[in-house]
Amino acid sequence: MDLKASSSLLCLAILFGVSSIVSAVNITRALEKYPEFSTMIELFGKTELTPIINKRQTITVLALSNDAIGSISGRPEEELKNVLMNHVVLDYFDELKLKALKDRSTLLTTLYQSTGLGQQQNGFLNCTKTNGKIYFGSGVKGAPQTAEYITTVFRNPYNLSVIQISMPIVAPGLGSPVQVPPPPPMTPPPSPSPKKVAATPAPGPAEEEDYADSPPGAAPETAPASAPSEDGSPAPAPGNAGKKKMAAADEVEPPTSASNTALSFGAVLVLGLVASFAGF
Ligand SMILES: *[C@@H]1O[C@H](CO)[C@@H](O)[C@H](O)[C@H]1NC(C)=O
Ligand SMILES: *[C@@H]1O[C@H](CO)[C@@H](O)[C@H](O)[C@H]1NC(C)=O
Ligand SMILES: *[C@@H]1O[C@H](CO)[C@@H](O)[C@H](O)[C@H]1NC(C)=O
Repeated sequence: MDLKASSSLLCLAILFGVSSIVSAVNITRALEKYPEFSTMIELFGKTELTPIINKRQTITVLALSNDAIGSISGRPEEELKNVLMNHVVLDYFDELKLKALKDRSTLLTTLYQSTGLGQQQNGFLNCTKTNGKIYFGSGVKGAPQTAEYITTVFRNPYNLSVIQISMPIVAPGLGSPVQVPPPPPMTPPPSPSPKKVAATPAPGPAEEEDYADSPPGAAPETAPASAPSEDGSPAPAPGNAGKKKMAAADEVEPPTSASNTALSFGAVLVLGLVASFAGF
């Protein structure tokens, strides 16, 4: 089936004299339905890595959500480019293949290695399995293995896979390391413990950030703090909108299979035409 489809495509390309109708790897197209990764796509464009990635035939991109990439997106362009190249693995890994890895840890070659600038294995990533979880880190000895595999976002075996990881990997020598973010509050506590609810009705001038322990003189007399009427937890959730969008995008079918089918269908039609002409 694959062979037939690709020979049909080849035939199409020759017929129309256009050799680049379909490229198996198009990172922009793979992620265009996932706004959660739009910053990474932008940065691939800004650092001129997009065409370099798309030229590859077999590749895995370790994708960072807009939230996760925030810690490196402001870095100088050259540094950013090197770091991003370390998120492009020159092999195909989706969830199935990652879970099937026999060794406890494996070294993966990245695009950065192909520049010839790699030192002490910082062009490689170390993929380690621990307690049923999969972690990525730089291949440099002793580098932290803290970027956790989250999910496979896009797969087109065996040409392009996009897997999401939890945080950027900055190899030693490529920039200052990224701190591991604190674990997100996955489950809200069932019963809010009666901590000090310092959410006083907030009269005008007191607009400072530190409401933990304000000096006694600072608070105006109008703050009785005796009975906090409501538990006004300010619900800090800036990332939620993005997550909802992502969930919606999940339900949309990946476009490749559909368009591939359409293309091969077209190719078969054309082949049929050619064959019938040849018959005469
Ligand atoms: C990749 O996909 C994007 C968005 O669909 C498109 O604009 C671009 O032309 C494609 N690039 C290649 C090389 O096919
Ligand atoms: C997809 O990957 C396979 C295996 O690496 C390769 O042989 C094939 O040429 C690739 N297809 C395209 C269209 O690049
Ligand atoms: C990968 O990292 C793990 C954990 O730090 C380490 O034990 C292992 O030796 C590394 N593997 C390679 C191939 O460097």
